[in-house]
Amino acid sequence: MLTEKPARPATADTNGVEPGAEAGEVGAEATAATPDATGVLPQERRLDCWFQGRFVPLTEAKVGVMTHGFLYGTACFEGIRAYWNAEQGQLYGLKLLEHYQRLARSARVLFMELPGTPEEMVTLTVELLRRNDLREDTYVRPSVYKSTEAIGVRLHRLEHEFVVFCVPFGDYIDTSGGISAQTVSWRRNSDVAIPARAKIVGAYANSAFAKTEAQLNGHDEAIVLTQDGHASEGSAENLFMVRDGVLITPPVTDDILEGITRTALMELARRELGVETVERQIDRSELYIADEVFLCGTGAQISPVTRVDHRPVGSGEVGPIGGGLRELYFDAVRGRLPAYAHWLTPVYETARDDSRART
Ligand SMILES: Cc1ncc(COP(=O)(O)O)c(C=O)c1O
Repeated sequence: MLTEKPARPATADTNGVEPGAEAGEVGAEATAATPDATGVLPQERRLDCWFQGRFVPLTEAKVGVMTHGFLYGTACFEGIRAYWNAEQGQLYGLKLLEHYQRLARSARVLFMELPGTPEEMVTLTVELLRRNDLREDTYVRPSVYKSTEAIGVRLHRLEHEFVVFCVPFGDYIDTSGGISAQTVSWRRNSDVAIPARAKIVGAYANSAFAKTEAQLNGHDEAIVLTQDGHASEGSAENLFMVRDGVLITPPVTDDILEGITRTALMELARRELGVETVERQIDRSELYIADEVFLCGTGAQISPVTRVDHRPVGSGEVGPIGGGLRELYFDAVRGRLPAYAHWLTPVYETARDDSRART
């Protein structure tokens, strides 16, 4: 017989970890040692989000337990970064329009739509960041979800809603040194199961299986193969390798998310390094003989992989193309490369606007 637990306070001060419990504990078996140090709801400050058509405190934006998107994963989302540049006193939203265009496409696949044009969603997001006076690296998370509270798995004849929140955010995976990756036993959900090009919430159970297998086996990240055994992507990152000076990435028809960072890196490689990217299938064993491998994504940024399946990649050190792209990318996203200003939306209009927001 289960006994009722005392009600939780509306704002727990433990970031969802039961006092005295190990973070990541599953039943009796503790799996991960620490909670993610980033992307948690800050307890000490009030942040607003946009929920059900208006700004509300993030701690008050709640959905019912019967919400369809929660019951069945029938929702789609974006992960967006905004980078703080302290010298310029500016916060830069990165590729905001591209993210809302992709969200509109994901929603379309699920028979939903955004409440406005992608351009209008960008304006709303800038207003949200400004309203929260965020002056640090930030993660922005818009979602479109089936909001009807009902049992019955389907995509049609359901209401949907839009929500967007933002929280301070640091590195999601290590970008400084190289990481170790494992090609895991789980396969990427194929286009005929759950389309990977749409950022569908339910599909992230597949990413979670992959990441956990890799991490419980002592690696940092997973590399996931397609049903027919080609390298598709990381758990939440796109994949690149370098062979004999050629930059190679899997094609969009190999069950990848059509990554925004992936496109950005191809642009940087072409314009800054004079390196064209070849989009073609990658065999697993090519990762063992590649000169460089790296993962990229909004969350992961650029993460050089220096070991795959216990084998050193190339020299075992961060390579020149991955390392070079990483430097260029970090300069571009923080507004230090004028040639890439078109990637960025400045959140604060002027220095005057900036100081007004502080007082
Ligand atoms: C499964 C998956 N692949 C790739 C990516 C990288 O995409 P992007 O660069 O648009 O963030 C993500 C990340 O957000 C992802 O979740």
